[in-house]
Amino acid sequence: MNSPARLKPSRTVDEITGSRRLRRMRKADWSRRLVQENRLTVDDLIWPIFLIDGENRREEVAAMPGVFRLSVDLAVKEAERAAKLGIPALATFPNVDLGLRDRTGSEILNPDNLINRATRAIKAAVPEIGIVTDAALDPFTSHGHDGILDNGIIVNDETVDQVAAAAVLQAAAGSDIIAPSDMMDGRIGAIRDALDAAGFQDVAIMSYATKFASAFYGPYREAIGTQGLLKGDKKTYYIDHANSDEAVRETEQDLAEGADMIMVKPGLPYLDIVRRLKDEFRVPTFAYQVSGEYAMIEAASANGWLDGEKAMLESLLAFKRAGCDGILTYFAPRVAEMLRS
Ligand code: PBG
Repeated sequence: MNSPARLKPSRTVDEITGSRRLRRMRKADWSRRLVQENRLTVDDLIWPIFLIDGENRREEVAAMPGVFRLSVDLAVKEAERAAKLGIPALATFPNVDLGLRDRTGSEILNPDNLINRATRAIKAAVPEIGIVTDAALDPFTSHGHDGILDNGIIVNDETVDQVAAAAVLQAAAGSDIIAPSDMMDGRIGAIRDALDAAGFQDVAIMSYATKFASAFYGPYREAIGTQGLLKGDKKTYYIDHANSDEAVRETEQDLAEGADMIMVKPGLPYLDIVRRLKDEFRVPTFAYQVSGEYAMIEAASANGWLDGEKAMLESLLAFKRAGCDGILTYFAPRVAEMLRS
């Protein structure tokens, strides 16, 4: 019964494949390069950086080895390095002094707050690099939520007014792209109106169109100091991570309100969303490889469980394959260095 003769397939491989052999083009490095469909270049990168007050300060984020909170003077130095590496743009996230945080996040309306000071300083020193700023309230509120908290509810419309006003201040400081991450309804249209009314027609909007309620933001909250403040979760305003049709509706709405570019966040666990949105809307599409994704690769690499550099490059190329035009990633300077050499 179990003789080798009985186990031998009745057809030859050529009969099975019809002589089509996909391994032919995989046989050598030159042929693999020749048929490679997607490529990662430095032009695909947006580098998120964390800011703190003070001078010559550089604090490592514990859950993100190799990522630092930088004072504005050092952020300018990193911006210079990024520009030399050819990285197109930086995205800045402030760790605001605890004493400046309140229920409504009012510090976001200070024209000289940390984020706006950093934008001015970077633009003065490195005008050729793009600056992306987040108009969300979470770094500025005493409760770590992205909106104004009123009797246990994140109130939508008041938050939108404040976010739109903050966007104008960020544009005035020199921000090139406003990227609101708060997921309030109507924020894109309100920001567009406010920017246009203030004469900032050329400032673009990258909508965090599909921001999912996610555990992968953990290390970011340590980085900007909302970890100990945040009570509850963000499920009343971020998208349920079980949903995909809702992500399409949210994106449709944001584009109708005037978004120039869209973003999917988190990244790697949501590549199905990236592909769906790219196919559906054909607009500039980005993904945010978030703090938890960075931390996972770094932790496994530090333990010797995988090759960190290879995992980094593979994860970033996966974004391109899924349809991304670019990626926000904490790996940006490392990848840029590697792609250069
Ligand atoms: C909130 C915001 C988050 C991130 C950036 N801005 C999520 C959150 O704290 O809920 C996450 C970025 C990351 O994890 O790298 N507006």
